[in-house]
Amino acid sequence: MALTRSLSHDPSDLARSTHGILSPIAFLFFVFGGIALRLLRTPHAVTIHGWWQAFSTVVLFVGFGCAVWLCQLPQKSGKFWLLRHSILGTVVTILMLVPLVLGWMQHDWFVKNRTQSWRGVWHMWMARLLILLGIVDGFLVGPSLVYAAVAGLTLIFYLGFLAVRGCLHLQNAAKERRELRSQTEMGPLGRAE
Ligand code: HEM
Ligand code: HEM
Repeated sequence: MALTRSLSHDPSDLARSTHGILSPIAFLFFVFGGIALRLLRTPHAVTIHGWWQAFSTVVLFVGFGCAVWLCQLPQKSGKFWLLRHSILGTVVTILMLVPLVLGWMQHDWFVKNRTQSWRGVWHMWMARLLILLGIVDGFLVGPSLVYAAVAGLTLIFYLGFLAVRGCLHLQNAAKERRELRSQTEMGPLGRAE
């Protein structure tokens, strides 16, 4: 739908198609960037993640620019701004700058202190929430089978990934607690005291 419209010569069709393609792609990229951080086995994983997510933010803002241009067209007389889709999308897009800054702040903190901090925790949870809200926002614009299929699969995949990671994390924490308890219950010769 968006692709066939982008072949038309009407600039508003082109802007709508570009927006409709770039905005969902930006969120797909954000999900890839989040997963890559956890799966990449290289000391540069955080730097790769940071630059990748910064690039995805640029894609998001180009899509946003097209939407803003669309919204101010006189023939729409400001009605596009009143869509739930436009309001939630604007909030999500602007708030996305916060995790972007917090991500660099946490990286900087970690290089100096080698520890986690509130910057990392806020960065992670805010980014996850905004990614989910951004994907949900695409559903508010109207029925599109292609969007529903791609966004639905992305959501299921990302939530599944987070759930599996969460379970592994809990399992490891329980194992560490058990090991610590058995160490304190054992004497120096490895026998129970
Ligand atoms: C943040 C995530 C966003 C996503 C995932 C998203 C996604 C989409 C999609 C898939 C379409 C359909 C395009 C088509 O029919 O070819 C669309 C249309 C549209 N979007 Fe967004 N969008 C987002 C943010 C925004 C924002 C921030 C605004 C306003 C500033 C906005 C305003 C619009 C408008 C006006 C349309 C056309 C609606 C119509 O023709 O009825 N969107 N968007
Ligand atoms: C708006 C852009 C960004 C988004 C959407 C984003 C998204 C995310 C997400 C979703 C996670 C958690 C991964 C998971 O689900 O387990 C994460 C973690 C992280 N990100 Fe980003 N990120 C962004 C920019 C950055 C930047 C620029 C940096 C700086 C290098 C950065 C550094 C980190 C770090 C260090 C973590 C690990 C936090 C921890 O485990 O406590 N991020 N990011």
